[in-house]
Amino acid sequence: MTIDRLKEVVGNSATLQGWVMGKRTGKGLVFLIVRDGSGMCQCIVDETKVSPETFEDAKRISQESSLRISGTVVADERQIGGHELHVTELQIIGESEDYPITPKEHGVDFLMDHRHLWLRSKRQWAILRIRNTIIMAIHDFFQGEGFIQTDAPIFTGNAVEGTSTLFETDFYGEPAYLSQSGQLYGEAMAMAFGKIYTFGPTFRAEKSKTRRHLSEFWMIEPEMAFHDLSMNMDVIERFLRHVVLQVLAKNPMELEMIGRDTTVLKQVTEKFPRIPYEDAVAILKGEKEVNGQNAVKTLEADLEAAKARLEAVLADINDREAKLKTPGMKKGEIGFHQAKVQQLKEEQAELEETLRNIPLWLKSAREFRMGNDFGGSDETVITRLFNTPIMVYNWPHEVKAFYMKRDENDPRWAKGVDVLAPEGYGEIVGGGERETNFDWLVEKINEHQLPMEAFEWYLDLRRYGSVPHSGFGLGLERLVAWVCKLPHVRETIPFPRMYGRIAP
Ligand code: 4AD
Ligand code: MG
Repeated sequence: MTIDRLKEVVGNSATLQGWVMGKRTGKGLVFLIVRDGSGMCQCIVDETKVSPETFEDAKRISQESSLRISGTVVADERQIGGHELHVTELQIIGESEDYPITPKEHGVDFLMDHRHLWLRSKRQWAILRIRNTIIMAIHDFFQGEGFIQTDAPIFTGNAVEGTSTLFETDFYGEPAYLSQSGQLYGEAMAMAFGKIYTFGPTFRAEKSKTRRHLSEFWMIEPEMAFHDLSMNMDVIERFLRHVVLQVLAKNPMELEMIGRDTTVLKQVTEKFPRIPYEDAVAILKGEKEVNGQNAVKTLEADLEAAKARLEAVLADINDREAKLKTPGMKKGEIGFHQAKVQQLKEEQAELEETLRNIPLWLKSAREFRMGNDFGGSDETVITRLFNTPIMVYNWPHEVKAFYMKRDENDPRWAKGVDVLAPEGYGEIVGGGERETNFDWLVEKINEHQLPMEAFEWYLDLRRYGSVPHSGFGLGLERLVAWVCKLPHVRETIPFPRMYGRIAP
């Protein structure tokens, strides 16, 4: 029996196989939190109801030991998972000595070094289950809309998204690159199948440590024949809405476990604002307001508020630490103050980070010049004002990739779209309409100093029955990070690969 199916056997006996996540002992009682991968369940071992050997085993069993455990299933809404097991038998399968990840706080580097074990913790479990829902919802959406999944190769002979982030490998003595994007192949396949999507690992040598960049990430790339930019944006909007609604429907427990306030997620049913690049710049610079909110003024006000709050938090910490020195304080009261101080220190760290960040964001916004690409900070400043994803379109062609279609009426602009997730998250999707003007495409390949021979097959797509077409790429980990409201993408993938991290 797996824990997720306990509801089917309430009142009956069941046997679970899993691991001990936590343990508490009371008088004549041992409370074990058992997880089996499908869920968690509190198991109560009562000295008067089991053999002395079983009770001894329950008392000595350590964190992350594996076990087989049987008992009667009792429904209890207040318990984790909604059930409890009143134990009759228990058998230890594999002992676990000195499990490195204890209930006390650990630093992120330590946890990342123990990623192979960290995955067992409640929070990581919840996040990766949400990732699973998202993956299934992606397939569900595209299959439902008549797309064919066709995968692009991972070894490639050419760059797609600029030459600076290529990982080079040796392909039988010839240089080859790990794919940065399956798009160019996707375009070929769209000409064969109409509407396709690729879903695979993507590699970018990003030599910087940011909260949004991985060296290996999963990208979903639909490509559609006979679709212009506006139809592309319609698909993106329906797609993201479907995926987020699926998570809300399937993972309420996981969202609660990670403390995700779902108010914003529920707003995906609203229309996503479509904002031309020039207007987005005006919003960034505080020249244009969003629902009466000014990006720059909001930041300045948030900065002042954070300063004031930090002062109050520091005073409160001082106060409580002084109180803790009073002789003869009761144990309960000491515990209360210590817990509060711990909480306040966490808030202090968050506020200090905010106080470091906001001035950098303000500087970036002030120095931004029309025509530049947005950096992570700029995206944060803009999207803090929104509660739904926004679609920024019509970009200066200079900052976009060689394949992006330029506006025939005003060639300053490329028909690209970036989708920025709200709450300060920033870019999760990049896409657009593809260039079909043969001469302009050749010009761009030259301008980007890309080897023309490697693109001859791509140019064939324009030689033989060229049609208007569009597509986009969604970074899976960026979407998971926003849906779960995580501070960093490293927790959105089982074993992250990023600058400075290849193990475990
Ligand atoms: O904007 P990008 O570079 O677009 C493309 O690769 C296009 N060829 C996609 C297409 O039109 N078919 O990347 C698309 C998305 C980004 O919006 C971001 O979500 C994600 O891929 N992404 C990364 N995610 C994690 N780590 C990185 N280093 C990423 N680089 C891009
Ligand atoms: Mg992009």
